[in-house]
Amino acid sequence: MTKIAQHYINGEWRGAAAKANENPSDLATPVGDSAQADTADLDEAIDAAKLAFSSWSAASPQVRHDILDKAGSLVLERQKQLGEILSSEEGKTLAEGIGESARAGQILKFFAGEALRLTGERVASTRPGVDVEITREPIGVVGLITPWNFPIAIPAWKLAPAIAFGNTVVLKPAELTPATAAALVAILEEAGLPKGVLNLVLGKGSIVGQAMVDSSDINAISFTGSVPTGRGIAAACAGRGKAVQCEMGGKNPMVVLADADIDVAVAACLNGAFFSTGQRCTASSRLIVERSIHDEFVAKLTAAMGKLVVGHALDASTQIGPVVDAGQFDKDRAYVEGAKADGAEVFGGDAVEAATKGHFMAPALAINTTPDMKINREEVFGPVASTIIADDYDHALAIANDTEFGLSSGICTTSLAKSRHFMRHAQAGMVMVNLPTAGVDPHVPFGGRKASSFGPREQGSYARHFYTTVKTGYVG
Ligand code: UN1
Repeated sequence: MTKIAQHYINGEWRGAAAKANENPSDLATPVGDSAQADTADLDEAIDAAKLAFSSWSAASPQVRHDILDKAGSLVLERQKQLGEILSSEEGKTLAEGIGESARAGQILKFFAGEALRLTGERVASTRPGVDVEITREPIGVVGLITPWNFPIAIPAWKLAPAIAFGNTVVLKPAELTPATAAALVAILEEAGLPKGVLNLVLGKGSIVGQAMVDSSDINAISFTGSVPTGRGIAAACAGRGKAVQCEMGGKNPMVVLADADIDVAVAACLNGAFFSTGQRCTASSRLIVERSIHDEFVAKLTAAMGKLVVGHALDASTQIGPVVDAGQFDKDRAYVEGAKADGAEVFGGDAVEAATKGHFMAPALAINTTPDMKINREEVFGPVASTIIADDYDHALAIANDTEFGLSSGICTTSLAKSRHFMRHAQAGMVMVNLPTAGVDPHVPFGGRKASSFGPREQGSYARHFYTTVKTGYVG
């Protein structure tokens, strides 16, 4: 019997198998099937969320805390099992899948605490005898549209603050990763979340996601995904007077200065560029290296890349899992061939044969490219990075900022002055020194600038800026 990932609407699991859920490590053995919603299913989910809002928004913060905290404990207890589901349908290695599941558990626990930490302000009015109180209230029904590349952490970091602050939720996860989302929602159900507070609707962005954006009964949308989709959502939400938050692409630079500890730099770039198969909006994709160490850096990085084991996500020896699907695989390969056609020398980047048939690709490095090449302008979202030679620090900083994106920016250096200068002048929402541009903590704000992000930050105490609305009260 195959497993079916179903919708969860008003406390009920439902929906027949309508779509096979592929295993990118083993195309002959699908993970299971998933239900596919139409707009009638979505309408029921929205109605359930609307109905649940009055009691959930009035529930004690202790109740919200206890449910999120219990869900967090269950996720942490079952991180291995969740990691297996995640890695089977998404393709990141089991260690990465388990690590991401643990991160989701920590996120649930952090936001359990946030439910109890929601404070306001009381200030004196300019009018004698009047008090002013600034409080935060939930927004209402929140629509969450999440991507396939972090199929448990991103749903967790959107739904946990939404629920903690008294909102109700309709979650539409990526079509490629329905089983992970269903497993997370089942844990929240088990933790005692009342029916209607969290609804899961599986299906296509073009049908379900679009209808969520169009619905006048959804008060806010939080989206993570591509720039064109995010821009479309942001514009549509603005037109409908709906709050919106979008986390989109990245083309993250990693500057490697001549004074860097080269082994630290190689390790940071190897991880940042290729781990999670490079399928992170925070991936280090432009490696900007000072001329005097470029060749040594490339020699060390390609040597390390050559040792990476590409294979089945659940195989314990695998370091780089498969690309998520055939479309992404073709896109990654086209960027590699495009870089060659543009004159770059490319290390790696070929299809890899493994024991099972899957979307396996060797990590690729396009060497000594120029900033104007397509490989340095567009987000690939695969195990593909490039090097760009910089004359000095100022040149490297200018190249780093020469992009429409602004999510994460890294530098490897032993100079305090240069690292501080870079932290101040990198045009990005996150800056990393001697660390990969990817891999973030769950308790601090996440987000970028320029085309990478739109709206308030996610995560940490900053999540309240999106998931609550401010009320200013005057008492005479
Ligand atoms: C990370 O780098 O740990 O989609 C998180 C993404 C980001 C999350 C990255 N929103 O890749």
